[in-house]
Amino acid sequence: PLDVGILALESYFPSTYITQADLEKHNGIPQGKYTIGLGQTAMSITGDREDVNSIALTVTSSLLKKYGIKPEEIGRLDVGTETLIDKSKSTKTVLMELLGSNLDIEGCTNVNACYGGTAALLNAFNYVSSPFWDGRYALVVACDIAAYAKGAARPTSGVGAVALLIGRDAPLVFEGIKSTHSVNAWDFYKPDHTVEYPVVDGKLSQNCYYDAIEGCYGKFADKMDKLEETANGLPFTTETPTYWVFHAPYNKLVEKSFARLYLCDAQRRYALNNCSVDVRDKDLAPWLTGAKPTSGDRDLEKVLKAKSKEAFKVKLGASNELSKMVGNTYAASIMMGIASLVDKEGGERGGLRPGATVGLFSYGSGAIATMYGLKVKERKEGDKFTLARMSNNLKLRERLSTREKVSAAELDMALDCRARMHTKGNDYSPAYPVERLFPGTYYLVNIDEKFRRFYDVY
Ligand code: ACO
Repeated sequence: PLDVGILALESYFPSTYITQADLEKHNGIPQGKYTIGLGQTAMSITGDREDVNSIALTVTSSLLKKYGIKPEEIGRLDVGTETLIDKSKSTKTVLMELLGSNLDIEGCTNVNACYGGTAALLNAFNYVSSPFWDGRYALVVACDIAAYAKGAARPTSGVGAVALLIGRDAPLVFEGIKSTHSVNAWDFYKPDHTVEYPVVDGKLSQNCYYDAIEGCYGKFADKMDKLEETANGLPFTTETPTYWVFHAPYNKLVEKSFARLYLCDAQRRYALNNCSVDVRDKDLAPWLTGAKPTSGDRDLEKVLKAKSKEAFKVKLGASNELSKMVGNTYAASIMMGIASLVDKEGGERGGLRPGATVGLFSYGSGAIATMYGLKVKERKEGDKFTLARMSNNLKLRERLSTREKVSAAELDMALDCRARMHTKGNDYSPAYPVERLFPGTYYLVNIDEKFRRFYDVY
């Protein structure tokens, strides 16, 4: 086997954050709405010194440095983002600054809400799997500044970027099985180029997410059942993968979506048993034999929550940790989940042992969603790329603890400041203090009279 997959990865989030508990107080809304209602703890924020190009530069340069990757070893570079600061020039081209005299690099930026990172990753897997592959690595960079207008959606903002190195003989291998659910929906879109914010129908986007995960899951499970090695006489269920990673706009949605997969499992068993309710699914009988369950059914939610509670902690606990602290990072969100899982479970005593599997669900409004699988492969001692090395290099908990907590009022100030920059073209000088950034962070120096952006590193 080619064992195409993830060789290395790096994650970046800004040095400043606010807590959701502070934000509840600041916004004067009932305590618990963001922390319990949305399941979020904190949110990354940044001012006008960082834009999507700068965070992409930061994370990519850090990955190349930490793993000693030379520019000539890269053959493809795909970016996934929906934070567009230019309607034509892609962030990929800005990243060429980091790749010296190697100009022979395919790829560009992939855009569709939070799905761009996954589109980039699937491109990279295909590139490395191709019979025409020339032996060079692919880089995937997923990055976004998630920003909403004032209102219910703003607490689900966030900032982050992830860079991944893709190649053969990987410790985290793409299993090849995938399923996609794509429809024409208007749940979240950005028709107005003068603002960074989307037009969003929050409730519709939740329902689109549920439809997409259920659509992907049914097809994915059917395909997995056909695989000899996973079938083993037992059908694929939510509990088959050792871990799961979901696109995480906010934790509560992940929890509820995971719970809904238990209904999907029961429905699959019901169909396989010629429409008789399996003994494991007695508590779900009213929803198996009656009318199609709706997303707002609180009785159903209660049953599903009880059934999935333990598995949610075990299978999604590690991957969700980072997004709870950073917020939604749109295209980077699913990659943040992978980083969070590898950081926690990739070390010597972690659960990502050879043979362990990971189910992944990526959703981008509009909508495109894909479910796919990764598997941990044993690598020889002394191999350059291992999960233990990735986990050691990430050190996410350490990095989270060195962030600077700022007052919740800074969220609106930071977003207002970004909004001023968004419409400014010529001769804009950012005001956010550079000293606040983590060392090694790229930042915007200025935008000149021809709208060109210039960056430096702190
Ligand atoms: N204590 C505890 N829980 C509370 C409290 C409280 N004081 N007050 C409210 N809640 C709960 C509610 O009961 C609700 O729980 P439920 O989900 O079990 O029903 C939850 O908090 C959210 O409250 P709502 O009033 O239902 O929703 P809200 O108006 O806060 O909006 C939403 C939430 C729709 C997620 C909004 O933040 C949004 O539009 N976000 C952006 C869109 C988004 O993230 N979509 C997801 C997929 S697409 C993507 O990735 C962009």
